[in-house]
Amino acid sequence: MAEATNIYPIYDKMMTRKDKEGLLGQRGVMIWFTGLSGSGKSTIALGVERELHKRGVLCRILDGDNIRSGINRNLGFSADDRKENIRRIAEIGKLFVDTGVVTLSAFISPTSEYRRMASEIIGIADFKEVYVSTPLEVCEQRDVKGLYARARRGEIKDFTGVSAPFEVPEHPALTLDTSVLTLEESVNKVLELI
Ligand code: ADX
Repeated sequence: MAEATNIYPIYDKMMTRKDKEGLLGQRGVMIWFTGLSGSGKSTIALGVERELHKRGVLCRILDGDNIRSGINRNLGFSADDRKENIRRIAEIGKLFVDTGVVTLSAFISPTSEYRRMASEIIGIADFKEVYVSTPLEVCEQRDVKGLYARARRGEIKDFTGVSAPFEVPEHPALTLDTSVLTLEESVNKVLELI
C-alpha cells in the first residue's frame, strides 16, 4: 500500500475532545469486547447501549458483521486481513472516543498483538478490555449462525477456535462467561466498569 505524503492534519484547529465532552456531559471511552464467535459480545454490547441510552449517555456500537459488510468489506479472515480489520476499527473507534462517545466494539480480535495495537491506537487510558470467556463448547452448541458446523465440515477455513487461534487475554479489565452469568448480570458488570 502506498504511504500518503504532503499531509497537513488540522487537529490543532478543531474543537477539542474536552469541548465535546463538556457539551455532552460525559467522557469518551472504548469498551473493547473480545471473545469467540457466538460468545455474546454483540448481545452484551447491545444491552449496555440500551441501558446507557436510557440514562442519557451517547453510545456507538462497532460490530463485526456490520463493519465487515461496510468499510471492511474488502477484508477476509487471513492473519493480515484480521489485523487490518482491527487497525481500521481502532482508528474509527478513536474518532468516536475523541468525540466523547462511549464506544463499544465487538470483534473477535483473536490475538494479543491485535488487541495491543488497538489499545495503542486508542490510548491505554481510554481502552477497557472485556473478555467474553464463554467456552468454545458452549459457543459451538449455540451456533447461532451455523458457522461452527460449517467450519467442522471444512467448508470455512481459518475459523477462530476451530482452525484458527484465539489467545486468551492476560489482563482484561473484566471477564464475562455468558454460560454462567445472565445477560443482565453481564450488562451490569460492564456498567460498573464504565
Ligand atoms: S476478527 O477475527 O477479524 O476480529 P470479526 O469479529 O471481525 O473477526 O468477525 C467475526 C465474525 O465473522 C464471526 O462472528 C462470524 O460471523 C464471521 N466469520 C466468517 N468467517 C470467519 C472465520 N474464518 N473466523 C471467524 N469468524 C468468521
